[in-house]
Order: sequence, then C-alpha cells, then structure tokens
Amino acid sequence: MKFDVVPHPNPTDSAQIAEVLKDPGFGTHFTDHTAVIDWTAAGGWQNARVEAYGPITLDPAAAVLHYAQEVFEGTKAYRHSDGGIWTFRPFANAARMNSSARRLALPELEEQAFVESLEQLVSADRQWVPSGEGEALYLRPFMFASEAFLGVRPAKEVSYRVIASPAGNYFGGELKPVKIWVSRDYVRAAPGGTGAAKTGGNYAGSLLPQQQAAEKGCDQVLFLDPLHDNAIEELGGMNVFLVTADGRIITPELTGTILEGITRDSVLQLARDRGLTVEERRITLDEWEAGVEDGTITEVFACGTAAVITPIGELLDGEKTIASTGTGEVTQSIREELLGIQTGTVEDRYGWMH
Ligand code: COI
Repeated sequence: MKFDVVPHPNPTDSAQIAEVLKDPGFGTHFTDHTAVIDWTAAGGWQNARVEAYGPITLDPAAAVLHYAQEVFEGTKAYRHSDGGIWTFRPFANAARMNSSARRLALPELEEQAFVESLEQLVSADRQWVPSGEGEALYLRPFMFASEAFLGVRPAKEVSYRVIASPAGNYFGGELKPVKIWVSRDYVRAAPGGTGAAKTGGNYAGSLLPQQQAAEKGCDQVLFLDPLHDNAIEELGGMNVFLVTADGRIITPELTGTILEGITRDSVLQLARDRGLTVEERRITLDEWEAGVEDGTITEVFACGTAAVITPIGELLDGEKTIASTGTGEVTQSIREELLGIQTGTVEDRYGWMH
C-alpha cells in the first residue's frame, strides 16, 4: 500500500524528546505523527498516509461513540545498539487485529498494510524510540466505526490509525512484584462473548473492578470463571503464568474468553525450549492458593506487550491474602531472554524481530 507522508510542520525538537525519554512512563507522551488508512464499504481501504499527530474530528453520531465498534493492538519497537529499530512479531499483531475485527464486524486489513503502517510511523518518528533498559516505543494500532449512523449495524465507514508512545515500565518506576485483587463481583468475559477480541469494551468493563483493586492497594485485578470452579482467566490487561517447583509452567488455556497474548505465546515457546513442561489448562484459584501454601507453586507472573513479564507478589481475595511468591528465577530469566531478543542482545532464533 502506498503511504503519503505529510511531515509535521512543527515537530518536537531533539532536546524536548530527550527530556521525555529520560523517564517515559507509560502512555502519556505521544510522538509527532500518526499513520492513517480510511475504509468505506463501497471503496475498501484507501488514502493511506502519515500525518501530524493531533485531535480527530468525529461526528457526534459516529457509531464507535455509541456502540463501541472498535478494536486495537499493542506492539513495541526497540532500538538496537547498532541503531537499527526492530518490531516484535508484528505479523502476529496483524493477524490478531483481523481476528478481533471479524468478531466486531469491522473490515480486515491486509497484514502487509498493517505492518507497513508501523514501519512508516516508526520511520517518521525514529527519534522517539528510547534505548533505556526495558524501554521501547509502544505502538498502538486501532480501528473504529466512524460512520455517523445510529442504527445498530456494522458501520460502512471505518478509520484505522496508529499512534506511538515512548514507554518504560507499565506499572511505573523500577520493576517490582505487583499486588493483585481477585474480582469476585465481576467477570471479564463469557463463552461466546468478546473476551478473545482486543476490543475497548473488555477494558471498559474491567475499570470498576480495577478501581476496587486500587482501593485495596492493588495494581491489577484478576478475573475468574465462576462457571468452571473459579478457574483463573486473566488480569485486566495481561495473561497469567504459574511456575512449579518441579519445572512446570502453567497458563490458562485459550477457551475463547481470554486474550490470545503474543507475549503469552512467546513465553510458552521460550519455556518449552528451556525444557520446562508447559501446561495450558484450566487452573483454579484454589489450586493457586494450595500450591503457594504447600510450596508446589514457586512463582507467578503476568505478561503482555505493555507489562512484558512482571512478577506477581501478593494476591488479595477479600480479606484473605495469598502469600507472596516474589520475583523468582524462572520469571527473571525468561524476562531477560525475551527482552534480550527484543533489544538485540540475545540471538533471535525464532525470526520474531522485524
Ligand atoms: C498491551 O499489553 O499491549 C495491552 O494492550 C495491555 C493494556 C495496556 C491495555
């Protein structure tokens, strides 16, 4: 797809970018440009461009504002020591966006066009890619129904965009184990619902439980599946792994109600290749609790593009605290290997980097 590049008339100067990159945080600073592709039912995808980042003009009747017909992705670009900039498994993000788009009755975008949109934006904003430990340029592709129409049917006008934001630790500051609140009042998804799609509504529904978590001093909320003995689902925006003393690594299986994380998939591959026994299966909160108590479960961690691999410390279930597992060796070492591949210090045996 041919992208027209219209450079920002007044881009941020290098000194200001350097100031932002000193402590990028997560999701608060945005680069100078955005990649855009329009879609209409009559004309398909058209008008691919890179233009100055700025507010979007949207009709108040735009369907996304009423019926949440929207999907998004998250991926990162890393600066390697030779100055090259690499993205991690972007074709996997392209495929997942299309699978989310199908569920939300949005049009699919050719994978090549998706990846080109990332390349174009990163080229325009290459100065914004940080190089600090665990830092990257977070890329946020998203697609939404822009048609002004209040009838409930798939929109005939859609906008696809990519924005970019320099990112450090998602949870802020140094990496440390996070504290998790178990949501007993709310579920994230149900069979046949939109749980496996990366769509805003799943995250909107997680905000109230997330607020409860914050009130209890927790960083994230854990969702359960009450239809299956309170099997663990996922956190507000990341997948969960448990590590056992006898060399197994366990994560909830993909049942259609949890997000098919690309980091999750990569962790499974790395774990297999280091000889750990991988179990993708239902695992209940009771099993987690009993395992931590009797020492069978030695480590628990969360993973996602934004969170990378973050150790889970305590789990708060109402008044009960499930003991801290701290930052274990397996968590630490898989995190280092994954980040090493992403940042170019560990050989990319998998051809993941682009
Ligand atoms: C990601 O890890 O990229 C996510 O989308 C999680 C969250 C920041 C919404």
